[in-house]
Amino acid sequence: MCGIVGYVGQKECATMLLDGLRRLEYRGYDSAGLAVHDGKEVKVVRAVGKLANLATALAQTPLKGSTGIGHTRWATHGRPTEVNAHPHVAGSIALVHNGIIENHVALRRQIEERGQKVLSDTDTEIVAHLVNLHAKDGNDLETAVRLALREVHGTYAIAVISKDEPGKLVVSKTASPLVLGIGEDEMYAGSDVPALLPYTRKMIFLEDGEIATLTQKSFRITTLEGAPVERAPQHIDWSEMMAEKAGFKHFMLKEIHEQPRALEDTLRGRLDRENADVIAAEIGLANIDISKIDRIYLIACGTSHHSALAGRYYLEKLARIPTNVELASEFRNRDAVIGKGDLVVAVSQSGETLDTLMAVKEAKKRGATVLAIANVIGSAIPRISDGALYTHAGPEIGVASTKCFSTQLAALLLLSIYIGRRRNTLDPKRARELVEGLAKLPHQMKDVVAGTKQLVANVARRYGDARDVLFLGRGLSFPIALEGALKLKEISYVHAEGYAAGEMKHGPIALIDSAVPVVVIMPKDSNYDKTVGNLQEVKAREGRIIAIATEGDHEAEKLGDEAIMIPEVEEELTPFLTVLPLQLYAYYVADHKGTDVDQPRNLAKTVTVE
Ligand code: M6R
Repeated sequence: MCGIVGYVGQKECATMLLDGLRRLEYRGYDSAGLAVHDGKEVKVVRAVGKLANLATALAQTPLKGSTGIGHTRWATHGRPTEVNAHPHVAGSIALVHNGIIENHVALRRQIEERGQKVLSDTDTEIVAHLVNLHAKDGNDLETAVRLALREVHGTYAIAVISKDEPGKLVVSKTASPLVLGIGEDEMYAGSDVPALLPYTRKMIFLEDGEIATLTQKSFRITTLEGAPVERAPQHIDWSEMMAEKAGFKHFMLKEIHEQPRALEDTLRGRLDRENADVIAAEIGLANIDISKIDRIYLIACGTSHHSALAGRYYLEKLARIPTNVELASEFRNRDAVIGKGDLVVAVSQSGETLDTLMAVKEAKKRGATVLAIANVIGSAIPRISDGALYTHAGPEIGVASTKCFSTQLAALLLLSIYIGRRRNTLDPKRARELVEGLAKLPHQMKDVVAGTKQLVANVARRYGDARDVLFLGRGLSFPIALEGALKLKEISYVHAEGYAAGEMKHGPIALIDSAVPVVVIMPKDSNYDKTVGNLQEVKAREGRIIAIATEGDHEAEKLGDEAIMIPEVEEELTPFLTVLPLQLYAYYVADHKGTDVDQPRNLAKTVTVE
């Protein structure tokens, strides 16, 4: 997830572009750059790190001109270096991009065969070269962009300028967001409304597969096929604060809603649907020989530890490989028997958590191979690992992890399917059911969030004052119970415990009375009957039940004081859906109590102390 901006008009544009990027910095911040047409040629300034570094570089090398584009990067392909920073230049073309070009490897080969030198590791530079090649064939900028985009598969929002066509900006999008800003004798483009709000409130949301050509006085929208599109600008009356959160009250709520998109991005290019398989090179295994691995250690903290617990279930069930799950903060407190033949999978959103980093260093010292599952490209843990499987969730701002949890689940499931296929422990028919089920999930997640939101908000209001809450689940629903409890604790400061439902009778059952809400995660899976038995035990002690169950489960509706339903999916996929109402529950309880949802007390997004 990157941020892009563009301007065409009569003013000097570097300051506006930089300011627009500042408003988009939440979308990525590992490098940034501007390209500005000075009337004769296009000049580019780029810098690694936060925007402050770009501002310093621009102070040393000012860019003059009134047509330009800018970019703040969240690396997906290629490390955060200056050569990988946008804008990318090819011949007369400068281009910025947000998204992922899936067929970049094949296109790179074709471009190099045509004698073009590709300088960066990015998928974006390939698009710049394609546009340039079509422009060299005599096409104007808009046509060159159109022809180039017909060759790419994937997601993109792009903004392009050409040395040969000063005063023109061409933009297009598919899947990634792009907004046009209509000013007086000037036009803008940006990834999001906030980037443009100080400049204009007349905006047009570009739709997938559309191209817009902007000049100082005009804008023209067409489809990729060339059909004209008529769309009137809308007046946006959001405050700047609201706009940054896309209209949501908190980043956490925005990020809960972003999960379908984050999952899509994490799966993109990694599923081989034809062969019901997963592509090794796309999940960080290019340099790891799975056939030499006898055992797996999943090491993580907090929410990442909960996804690791689900990961153990996947790896053992689908790949039949012995798997241990370790709290990173405890790993070095014992003399773990680990070494050659062991694969450590370190799961970390930030890739910087010190406990996890130290555990990885220890495991490496003892000869283990390490695969990192991380969200921040180029962060410390992937840097020292033998391979990295990145979740493409985009920056997560809320301290309470939501979209990174679901994308970690996806990464672990991809890994398990891949290893299961190699070890012949996962038959192709079952693999196909999982691969197809995964592909359908983003849509189902979207429906669950939209369909349960209001009910969960009401339930949160009814039960929000409880002093203690229990979360129960079995099998794959046990890590979800832990995660539901952690979410509630960290943002609403309510005491909550996640328990394996079968463990309740060994202690926590003593807590239950009519003042304790018990959230029972009970999808129709192989553990269903036993979980219903545990629910009955709670009921017999007057506990109030909030059931998270499968649509059509009348038993759950009858037994639960509240029942929140999810659609029926493969057992392995239930956590992706059952976790959503729990995230929403924690959010609404916290919001009702008025706590600081995005920055709860005593916590930090990245924990770099032991
Ligand atoms: O960046 P990491 O995934 O390594 O972070 C681990 C934990 O600090 C993190 O998951 C924490 O528990 C979150 N605040 C949970 O919402």
